[in-house]
Amino acid sequence: MASSAAGCVVIVGSGVIGRSWAMLFAGGGFQVKLYDIEQQQIRNALENIRKEMKLLEQAGALKGSLSAEEQLSLISGCPNIQEAVEGAMHIQECVPEDLELKKKIFAQLDSIVDDRVILSSSTSCLMPSKLFAGLVHVKQCIVAHPVNPPYYIPLVELVPHPETAPTTVDRTHALMKKIGQCPMRVQKEVAGFVLNRLQYAVISEAWRLVEEGIVSPSDLDLVMTEGLGMRYAFIGPLETMHLNAEGMLSYCDRYSEGMKHVLKTFGPIPEFSRATAEKVNQDMCVKVPDDPEHLAARRQWRDECLMRLAKLKSQVQPQ
Ligand code: NAI
Repeated sequence: MASSAAGCVVIVGSGVIGRSWAMLFAGGGFQVKLYDIEQQQIRNALENIRKEMKLLEQAGALKGSLSAEEQLSLISGCPNIQEAVEGAMHIQECVPEDLELKKKIFAQLDSIVDDRVILSSSTSCLMPSKLFAGLVHVKQCIVAHPVNPPYYIPLVELVPHPETAPTTVDRTHALMKKIGQCPMRVQKEVAGFVLNRLQYAVISEAWRLVEEGIVSPSDLDLVMTEGLGMRYAFIGPLETMHLNAEGMLSYCDRYSEGMKHVLKTFGPIPEFSRATAEKVNQDMCVKVPDDPEHLAARRQWRDECLMRLAKLKSQVQPQ
């Protein structure tokens, strides 16, 4: 394995997210050590990463300035966590979403790391105050939450513990930028962080509209793919307001009463009943039958679309 001037990153947990992080860090020129409790998972991950990187290289979509072979030479498996973390500058935890399991891993890491390394969790919804409570190295702890699939969707939510040092946030922010991701700072922890709060607000209203028979499930999805989603890949909801009038203040003057009128008609949190889930599923299965082959093919198509969108965004947006 090649050594790297950029430094060494350890991935704890070599599943879906761990593999993506490994590819991103190698793309940024970092040496990557993959650790997992299951040896077979490490072998599978290395094989899967090799295949993915070769395909990306052929498609001209490999990240970073190194070739696939050069990036692959930076990644290795390591069956021993103590050996893996030696000399590491960043540890990215990617084990299943289970608070007790993650706390056990961080307690173990806490007892073997130095005062420099960043301890980062990929958790989608566990609160930093719960994950990192009582750790000696709590100042070095942070959540860096990626979005699936991380190789194609660059956003990373950085969520500090109340005792996380500002330098930990700054270093993680800089590291994410270095590997081509787009970090954003969540100033204070909140359930669901920011991305999932927005996502759940959309899902919640979508569910109510379908449940109340106002729109079919497939037409509901069209509203996003052919409507809102067209601009949201380029401008967010707040900038949309700014541009849809003569600036934000003018938008609020013109439309806030109308928005409040509509918002007051929103219903309660949906129960996600079996009956509605079956109705939605029936519609979804017309487009994508819910067997593994069709789902995998559709995910692959989604990733190809995201890859092309990323190319378009890099052409139209100044870096
Ligand atoms: P996964 O189930 O694909 O992979 C988890 C890996 O952790 C497995 O390889 C497993 O063998 C390993 N593991 C289990 N116990 C371990 C231990 N004690 N020590 C070391 N390795 C251990 O899970 P996935 O989807 O990669 O999720 C990982 C984390 O990323 C979760 O916290 C999840 O919430 C978060 N996340 C997941 C996203 C997704 O869409 N899959 C998106 C963003 C974040």
